[in-house]
Amino acid sequence: MSNSSQKIPIIIDCDPGQDDALMLFLALNAPELDVRGVVACGGNVPLARTELNCRILVEMAGRLDVPVFAGCDGPMVEQLFTAEYLHGETGIDGIDFFEPTIKKRDQHGVDFIIETLRAADVDEITLVPTGPLTNIAMALRKAPDILPKIKQIVLMGGASFEGGNVTPSAEFNIYVDPHAADVVMRCGRPIVMFGLDVTHQVMTDPQLVADIRSLDNKVAHASAGMLDFFGQYDAAKYSAEGGPLHDPCTIAWLLEPSIFDLKPCHVAIETTSKLTRGHTAVDFWGVTENTPNVEWAFKANKQRFFALLIERLAQY
Ligand code: BDR
Ligand code: CA
Repeated sequence: MSNSSQKIPIIIDCDPGQDDALMLFLALNAPELDVRGVVACGGNVPLARTELNCRILVEMAGRLDVPVFAGCDGPMVEQLFTAEYLHGETGIDGIDFFEPTIKKRDQHGVDFIIETLRAADVDEITLVPTGPLTNIAMALRKAPDILPKIKQIVLMGGASFEGGNVTPSAEFNIYVDPHAADVVMRCGRPIVMFGLDVTHQVMTDPQLVADIRSLDNKVAHASAGMLDFFGQYDAAKYSAEGGPLHDPCTIAWLLEPSIFDLKPCHVAIETTSKLTRGHTAVDFWGVTENTPNVEWAFKANKQRFFALLIERLAQY
């Protein structure tokens, strides 16, 4: 697509994270997307690091025109829980670091989201959160008037049949800020949700990483380095050959929706139980009378997902 008015306008909210990094790379050279900005949240690593990582990754992708903002440094109620055990001290271990020339914008990320949505038409902007949902929930709380401007929220989070990856009940992004997830689930706008049920169907393996490395461009090499690091912990955890490519599912769906099968489901968030904090109660079989609030992804075509990833990384 050449005309920017035909592109899908999106705001990305993330916590890089090697899989967030791959998500950013997929988004930032996609001719189908108009990335209005990237907002960092505290998540996999603290905000100071995720915000720096966003600038490094956006710069690596050659998108010096895309503004980067720092959002909230921690959840609405809970203490921040981070995941250096999986992502390394930096969050994106596996790349060669450099000091980015892109500067962090002074505006708070939540205010950027609000301002962008207020300036948009009804149903115009797609939000793509791939970390804890703190910034999105705070924007909705601070400025409920922005709701009609949200076309959809395409997010990575939750788990149903797969069980949790941080506790037996909960997936990391929802576990970290269950109160924010609760606000988002009840916001009334269309939500497309990629949880572990589907992200565990797109596990990396040494062949994929080798294919990416052979692409011979900087972004592909950085991606391969990060996937080498990222795969180690999860490969042992899942007795697999690599790790799940969670966050890129969101952008892959925007680019090629038929890769995934979705089902309308009601999803509710556990916010009070200590044992099951952040559990996503997905009514997959429609056993309640609750009206579905989410398009829940439950199946992915791994071959087509990997083909898309390689095709787009090759274009850097
Ligand atoms: C999610 O948590 C983080 O570790 C990943 O970046 C992904 O967003 C998976 O549970
Ligand atoms: Ca993430």
